[in-house]
Amino acid sequence: NTYCVIMAGGVGSRFWPLSKSSTPKQFLDILGTGKSLLRQTFERFIPICKPENFLIVTSSEYGSKVLEQLPEISPSQVLKEPFRRNTAPCIAYANSWIRSREKDANIIVSPADHLIIDEQNFLASIQRGLEFVENNQALLTLGIKPHRPETGYGYIQVGNGLKNEHPSFFKVKTFTEKPNAELARVFYESGEFFWNSGIFLWRLESIDKAFAESLPDIQSLFRKLDSEIGKPSETQALNDIYVDCQNISIDYGVMEKAQNVYVQTVSFGWSDLGTWSSLYDYSNLDKDKNALISGDVLLYETSGSIINIPTSKVAVIKGLKDYIVVDSGEALLICPKDSEQQIRQFTNDIKTEF
Ligand code: GDD
Ligand code: MG
Repeated sequence: NTYCVIMAGGVGSRFWPLSKSSTPKQFLDILGTGKSLLRQTFERFIPICKPENFLIVTSSEYGSKVLEQLPEISPSQVLKEPFRRNTAPCIAYANSWIRSREKDANIIVSPADHLIIDEQNFLASIQRGLEFVENNQALLTLGIKPHRPETGYGYIQVGNGLKNEHPSFFKVKTFTEKPNAELARVFYESGEFFWNSGIFLWRLESIDKAFAESLPDIQSLFRKLDSEIGKPSETQALNDIYVDCQNISIDYGVMEKAQNVYVQTVSFGWSDLGTWSSLYDYSNLDKDKNALISGDVLLYETSGSIINIPTSKVAVIKGLKDYIVVDSGEALLICPKDSEQQIRQFTNDIKTEF
């Protein structure tokens, strides 16, 4: 069977003030489509994964939000983490749940908050990827052609292509998570690198082996959970495991180290919607290149900006260039686009709930 694991426990802090820790961006309709990013992610995979084979891994505080937005799934499919420990433990938890069901599973791991433009093309890529991992002991990621030297992504250096049989598949030579600005520029300019999309495919057996080799402590902690899944004692066991568990992403913990990493290069139109500017890149722009996300707003001599002021009837903005202006009703953000990485720092500093 094919399982779809959706990682939905992040806080999305760079999307403040719309995204906040009580309601992070995956639960919001950031794109104005009438559906949250989580809901869109779920619907994207429905053609290839049965509703009962979805697992949503998230913080315990968001459990009820997930069930509200995905009424097709049962409470047992929402894996509630007692603490945030990043994506390696999140995936290890899902593996344990799947192991308790069946040993011979294909797994798709997906973030909950990405934008995919061409859904048909996306599904075809996933199908090809599933076939590949079924027949190879591979950790497969989908790779995106980079268009700027972004530092927030993993960079994949491609090695040999796998020839005629799998034209868009390559063995990965190196995987470098979140390089510094200098290195990101070198990677970008060399033309040999792809971005890691953060969408992974593998068989349960392959990812188990990778954890045992690269993160043996996490693997043995979660092995203890296998026999507890679905029992009343699961919550306590899980709590004990998370207390002891290292905080590390799958990218640093496994993908940078494993030898059997492969990439399928894809081109379905992708954004991780990590920041306001990434949303701007995919928005309809007016003649002055402003993205008016929502609000009844009049703009004068304003260009290159992202404006989201849904709560006020009219705002007149004059002389603004390359800014983000977002009003959540409770908080207002005004920030130059090129400083948006600092939004994360700011939300950490204020520590209050907006
Ligand atoms: N359940 C759970 N628990 N989910 C989590 C946790 C956690 O502790 N931390 C993050 N997530 C979820 C997020 O909600 C998101 O859907 C996904 O896991 C990825 O986490 P991010 O925090 O958004 O990672 P990133 O964007 O910095 O980096 C990853 O994605 C990039 C592409 O968007 C890496 O895989 C990079 O290599 C990749 O380029
Ligand atoms: Mg992300």
